[in-house]
Amino acid sequence: MPDNNLTVTTGTSSYPVVVGTGVLETLPRRLEELGLQGSLWLVSDSAVFPHYGAALEARLRDVGYPVQSYVVPSGEAGKSPEQLWNLYTWMIGAGVERRDAVLALGGGVVGDLAGFAAASILRGIALVQLPTTLLAMVDASIGGKTGINHPLGKNLVGAFHQPRLVLADTLTLRTLAERELRSGWAEVIKHGVIRDAGLFHLLETHATALQTPAECTQHPDPDAIIRRAAAVKVAVVSTDEREQGERIILNYGHTLGHALEAATGYGTILHGEAVAIGMHAAARIAADMGLLTAEEVERQQQLLTAYGLPTNFPPDVDREQILALTLRDKKVQQKRIRWVLPTTIGAVSVRDDVPEMVVRKILTDQ
Ligand SMILES: NC(=O)c1ccc[n+]([C@@H]2O[C@H](COP(=O)([O-])OP(=O)(O)OC[C@H]3O[C@@H](n4cnc5c(N)ncnc54)[C@H](O)[C@@H]3O)[C@@H](O)[C@H]2O)c1
Repeated sequence: MPDNNLTVTTGTSSYPVVVGTGVLETLPRRLEELGLQGSLWLVSDSAVFPHYGAALEARLRDVGYPVQSYVVPSGEAGKSPEQLWNLYTWMIGAGVERRDAVLALGGGVVGDLAGFAAASILRGIALVQLPTTLLAMVDASIGGKTGINHPLGKNLVGAFHQPRLVLADTLTLRTLAERELRSGWAEVIKHGVIRDAGLFHLLETHATALQTPAECTQHPDPDAIIRRAAAVKVAVVSTDEREQGERIILNYGHTLGHALEAATGYGTILHGEAVAIGMHAAARIAADMGLLTAEEVERQQQLLTAYGLPTNFPPDVDREQILALTLRDKKVQQKRIRWVLPTTIGAVSVRDDVPEMVVRKILTDQ
């Protein structure tokens, strides 16, 4: 099988990101190549483990790896302090050692939770990310951000802990819910807008064939498209591991998207849906400031719509609450919101001089 590997290279580490059909089968060989010889602690969730857990365990045991599995409830609740504590208790109770590795099999929730457990237990052991959602394949599994939610807010406790390997088997998308798949396409489109006009064009060409999990895995091109979207994240985190510079561009669509998620209660609107709405609003803000043409705003809106994503704020959401919540965004510095705004399809700029009245106008115009 050709590898077509991407490689994340940061100041402290370098690791492959492998995207392809059936690549989970190559996990045992890859772990051996990485020199990982200890026990394996497989962490997954209740929707993913029944599909892929047992086969993966068997494959690893076949080559002699001791492997034990832990299953958390599916959904954002899996990223709670209680789940993390239970995970620690399980691993410590069963004799985890420094040379062991955590395998995170699931979406971004499992990746973040298991990643943070790996970052912190025994002051850090090896981590391998095995993403099973489109969002996790192109975004969450890459770049080393791990963490859990605190009752006072999402992702407030965490650490940077780079994995030793990211292995994204696109066959696992077969079992993903259609709405979750669509939500993932929002991040793929985002990567096109912020850095890869060619990817954006590819997405325009294939929109009608990538809507459902079945179409997605049968279509000849999704691996190439997903790999290309992952490549954007790989490139950005390789230049800015700790989010001190360019990494902020990945936040495109997220300032208003996060505010919308917070205003509606997490889970009502999926993350990707909120990001799609946030991207459309950000593009309109960019147009209002003379950075982007009306045609480009429309082109982005058409692509988001073609992938079944919403682009307008729900009418019943309080616009003033959204505005207030944007100020609580983690990227706010000295009370100035740092907006990631497109300047064309494939490039963005970061601006902290967007007048509040422009944002208010875009929010109330919908
Ligand atoms: N670390 C990062 O850089 C980063 C980046 C973006 C998002 N995130 C985090 O990622 C999380 C969202 O990730 P997500 O969208 O993958 O959500 P998720 O992990 O909750 O997965 C979505 C749903 O799909 C199910 N599922 C996952 N894979 C499946 C499969 N192959 N078949 C059947 N069901 C499957 C899950 O059980 C869950 O119900 C958020 O907590 C967010 O904060 C982290």
